[in-house]
Amino acid sequence: MQEEEQGRRDFMGIALGACAAIGGVGALYAAKRTWDMLPSVKAAGFTTIDLANAHPNKLVVEKWRGKPIFVLKKTPDMEVNDRDIVIGSDRFHVSIGLCTHLGCIPAYEGAEHKFKCACHGGQFDASGEVLKSPPPSPLIIPPFTIKGTKLVLGEAGPEYKKMLDAGLIA
Ligand code: FES
Repeated sequence: MQEEEQGRRDFMGIALGACAAIGGVGALYAAKRTWDMLPSVKAAGFTTIDLANAHPNKLVVEKWRGKPIFVLKKTPDMEVNDRDIVIGSDRFHVSIGLCTHLGCIPAYEGAEHKFKCACHGGQFDASGEVLKSPPPSPLIIPPFTIKGTKLVLGEAGPEYKKMLDAGLIA
C-alpha cells in the first residue's frame, strides 16, 4: 500500500514536472483529454491491462512501477512495425511514456499519429521510433507478456524475449 502511494507520488511528480516544462496546468488538461482508461489491476510490481475494449488511435496511459506506460491500439492504416505487440488481429504500440532524451512525457497527436515531446522538440512515430532528434533512441518497451486479451507489464514473456533477441528493445 505504502509502495503504491510512493509510486503514485513518483508518477505525479514526473507528470507535473513534465507539464511545468511545457506550460503548466493547461498542458496537463490538454494531455489528459487525450488519455483513455481501460480496466487494469496493479499488484506486486505487475500491471495487468485488459485490451479487449481498446479504441484504435486513442492513447491509454497506465502506470507501472511509478512510470507512465503508453498503450496505443493501431489503426489498420498505421505502418506495421516489428515492435508491435499483436493480440488476436490487433496491433498495439506499448512503451514507457518517457522521452529517451531527458525523460519528459511526450503527448500523442492522434491526427498525425505522432508522439511529440514539448521539452526539446523530439518526435516519435506511432511505433515509438524516432522521427526527429534530439531523442537518441526509440521509446522503450517494458517487459510484458500476453494472456488472452490481457497485457501483463513486469513479466518478460516469449514475445518480449523475441524482441529482445532481435535487438528491437532499447
Ligand atoms: S526530453 Fe524530449 S526532446 Fe528533450
